[in-house]
Amino acid sequence: MINLVLFGPPGSGKGTQANKLVEKFNLIHISTGDLFRYEMGNDTPLGREAKSYISKGELVPDEVTIGMLRNKVEAHPDARGFIFDGFPRTIRQAEALDALLAGSSTSVSALVALQVDDEEIVQRIKLRGATSGRPDDSDESIIRNRIDVYKSETTPVFDYYAQSGKSHSVNGVGSIGEIFQRLSDIVGQL
Ligand code: C5P
Ligand code: MG
Repeated sequence: MINLVLFGPPGSGKGTQANKLVEKFNLIHISTGDLFRYEMGNDTPLGREAKSYISKGELVPDEVTIGMLRNKVEAHPDARGFIFDGFPRTIRQAEALDALLAGSSTSVSALVALQVDDEEIVQRIKLRGATSGRPDDSDESIIRNRIDVYKSETTPVFDYYAQSGKSHSVNGVGSIGEIFQRLSDIVGQL
C-alpha cells in the first residue's frame, strides 16, 4: 500500500496535485477540508460544529476530525492506498493516523510538503476565493490566521515524520505539470 500525506500550507496546491496523483497511482483521495465542506453544505450537526472553527481559520478539535477521517478510511477496506490531503494537521492527528493504519498492518509511506512562501499563498487563496465561494478564502485576516495556525500547530507534523525518515519537501512554485513531476518522482519510488 502507498499511504501518502500531502502536506503544505493552505493554498499550496495539495488538492490540485492530489487529484492528479490519485489517477496516476490508483489511490483514494481523502481531503478532510472537502469532507467538512460537504457536511457544512448539508448543514449536518458535524458541519455546524466544524463551521464555527473553519469560519475563523481555526482547527476543528482533534477528536472530531479524527473520527471523521477514521470513518472515511474504514469505508475503503480494499483501497490500494490513500492520499491524505489536509490531514494530519496536528501531532495528535498524526499519532491517530499511525494507530489507525497500524490496525490494518500498514503505515504512512511518506509525507511530501509543498513549499510556497506566505505572500504567494495569500495571493493564490484570494484568487481562489473569487470563484471557490469559500468564506475562509475571501478575508485576508482569516487567510493569515490559517497560515499562522499552520506554522504553530501543523509544521511539527513534518518533524514528526522526519524522525522516521519519511518527510520530503518539494518546491510548490511552478506550473501544475512541473510540480506534479516533482511529486511523482518521489511517490514513484515508494
Ligand atoms: O484543508 P483545507 O484548507 O481545505 O481545510 C479548510 C479548513 O478546514 C481549515 O482551515 C480548518 O479550519 C479545517 N480543517 C481542520 N482540520 C483538518 C483539516 C481542515 O480543522 N485536519
Ligand atoms: Mg484543499
